Amino acid sequence: MQCARFILLPLAFLVVSCGEETNTPYEIPLLQMTTPTSATLVWETERKEPACLTLELEGQPATRETTCYPSDTLHELVLTGLQPATHYRYEIAGVKPDKTEENPLPVTSHTFRTPDEATKPFAFGVMGDSHGKVDVLVQLLTAATLPGPRRMPIDFLLHVGDAVEDGGHATYFTDLIEPGRAVFDGLPLYAAMGNHEEDSDWFYHYHAYPGREDYYAFTHGNTFFVVLNTNKDYTSSSKQYHWLVQRLASPEAARATWRVVSFHHPPYGQGWGPCGDFTGDADAQEYLVPLFERQRVDLVFNGHVHGYERGSRQGVTYVTTGGGGGGLDHHCQSWDHIAVAKYAHHHVRVEIDGERLWLRAVGLDGQLLDQLQLRAH
Ligand SMILES: [Fe+2]
Repeated sequence: MQCARFILLPLAFLVVSCGEETNTPYEIPLLQMTTPTSATLVWETERKEPACLTLELEGQPATRETTCYPSDTLHELVLTGLQPATHYRYEIAGVKPDKTEENPLPVTSHTFRTPDEATKPFAFGVMGDSHGKVDVLVQLLTAATLPGPRRMPIDFLLHVGDAVEDGGHATYFTDLIEPGRAVFDGLPLYAAMGNHEEDSDWFYHYHAYPGREDYYAFTHGNTFFVVLNTNKDYTSSSKQYHWLVQRLASPEAARATWRVVSFHHPPYGQGWGPCGDFTGDADAQEYLVPLFERQRVDLVFNGHVHGYERGSRQGVTYVTTGGGGGGLDHHCQSWDHIAVAKYAHHHVRVEIDGERLWLRAVGLDGQLLDQLQLRAH
């Protein structure tokens, strides 16, 4: 990973040599993980070429700084030295931006906002099982980025897997990245691996998560997040299980007011297409649920079942949010603890302010499918 430090002093304008210059169009920038003082950015060009990034405080062109990077098709870098809760604008170009005559292609401009300090309220969106249904995905992404009841913009999106129908091909780009370009250039996407991603290289190609990238943890605000890959072994002797035990017992998790875990296969499920062959993931019930209860996990987000289901057991709230575009399931059987089950396309919005958490599931036409308020325990 390349690292660049942007010290945004007024009138600072730094240009580092790019080497060879080309006019090849660049493709979609994806904002990845953000912290109050940093952001990770990935972008890809059609051909191997150098790239230059210009960053400025939005509305303050005097703060522009440009850094250029060596020739490559995939550029991945970390911007550091940023300010919390601040809007930035950035441009990416294949040539030095001051040489416009040699670069007839328009330089597109993107914006993002760094999160606030850890103690401040924040919001995030959750969706899953888009299955390459681009029209629904775009509607949900647009709705997710609208201000919620408490007027908080979301800081990022969780996707609980099956973003694509077939992850074995470049459809990760055509089913998710390209249709989401208007959102993902300024909003980090924390994706979980669904069975339809098929452990494809494209998942790793487009994301820059910590560690192995298919299961990872991060802290945002006062909340500790874990994303698992339930397509890989997570039984008690597995590497992933030991990693999860360590992460949930970490000082970072203990310090957090909220602990949220996201993965594809739900431990409990009421709806399914043909009925009868899926009522929840037995391994998740056996290995993950006891751990969640023991380590005071507050919220678990899953997909796989195409619809919305919500219930609580032993202090853990389970939300299945698999209504991101795939063909909808229907009710097959009941679990005592599942209080709400609706099989409709939707997204979930979570707002957190200290020890209070508000969750809303919102359907495609804006109707409220469910809402819940929790107090940290
Ligand atoms: Fe699915």
